[in-house]
Amino acid sequence: MKRIVVKSSKKYTIIIDKGILSETYERIQPVLKGSIVYIVTDDIVDSLYGSVLADSFKNSGIHAYKYVIPNGEISKNSDNYISILNDMANKGISRSDTLIAFGGGVPGDLGGFAAATYQRGISLIQIPTTLLAAVDSSVGGKTAIDLKEGKNLAGAFYQPDMVICDLSLMNTLPDIVFKDGCAEVIKYGILSGNPLFEQIRKPIKKNIESIVYRCIKIKRDLVQKDEKDTGIRQLLNLGHTVAHAIELLSGYTISHGAAVAKGLHLVTKISYTQGICPKEVFTQINDILNIYGFNTDSLYSAKDIANAIIMDKKRSNEYINLILIEDIGKCAIKKTNMADLDSMIQKAMDYRG
Ligand code: GLY
Repeated sequence: MKRIVVKSSKKYTIIIDKGILSETYERIQPVLKGSIVYIVTDDIVDSLYGSVLADSFKNSGIHAYKYVIPNGEISKNSDNYISILNDMANKGISRSDTLIAFGGGVPGDLGGFAAATYQRGISLIQIPTTLLAAVDSSVGGKTAIDLKEGKNLAGAFYQPDMVICDLSLMNTLPDIVFKDGCAEVIKYGILSGNPLFEQIRKPIKKNIESIVYRCIKIKRDLVQKDEKDTGIRQLLNLGHTVAHAIELLSGYTISHGAAVAKGLHLVTKISYTQGICPKEVFTQINDILNIYGFNTDSLYSAKDIANAIIMDKKRSNEYINLILIEDIGKCAIKKTNMADLDSMIQKAMDYRG
């Protein structure tokens, strides 16, 4: 069992272990206040593990309600959000009760946003069930829903009161969903360098506890320095500016992890062709993406990707913060003029190394 304490606007503990879902009640008891928990989950997670979680509250005196959404990003919408708030109000959930966001990034973000806003904020427990949610979305307090105009356009920074990360839940993940999380783990490997970068050359499942622990610690350290994502936390966006553009261009048919892998590949090429990192770094990152079988082919032209990035970011100004790679374990936030993006991406794509 491993524990990580996050000291942000809220101080909370992340527990990483195997087989602890059935012990949820006793694990979260120290932070439970009211007599009701309201579980937000999706239909797949519910069919696999809903009863294990609900059973942990049997004979505890805690009443557990459940709201089940269909699996998938499509559910992270304003209709479900309002419907959850209405249901919570109808069930008499009070400010002292607790919402449990149970699942991958979608129940985590949607449930988190409901907890952040219901009666101006109630207690929140995150129980991630995917590798991606374990190493990224369940930690750091980003909660959101998508609007028709774009992903995560409404949301709040709202830290959980505890995160229960049961690694046994990763065993039933379809390969493709597990692979999505691997792309995020590779991101952490590039950001932090060794020992993580070396460790993930072997299959992640072999050392999952230590790998998840290392990834969360990297995120914890950045969140503690910059909770509201105005500075150093932006390093966590490595590969993500391009990934979001690819997801948008694909009409969200490409998974987040597959898009992150393509994004990591392209920013590595940009970093090399802009003279920011040496060739060996490009080779090492390419190798690791290959080990995991990621397809790094570009599906879109430089112009399309640049335009999609600009469309996504035009709300702020003419510059964008791109995270570029100087070395394995050394990335930097580079203020980049949007007008230069197209030619930068084209130059990277023209490189056939
Ligand atoms: N997913 C990036 C962050 O939490 O800042």
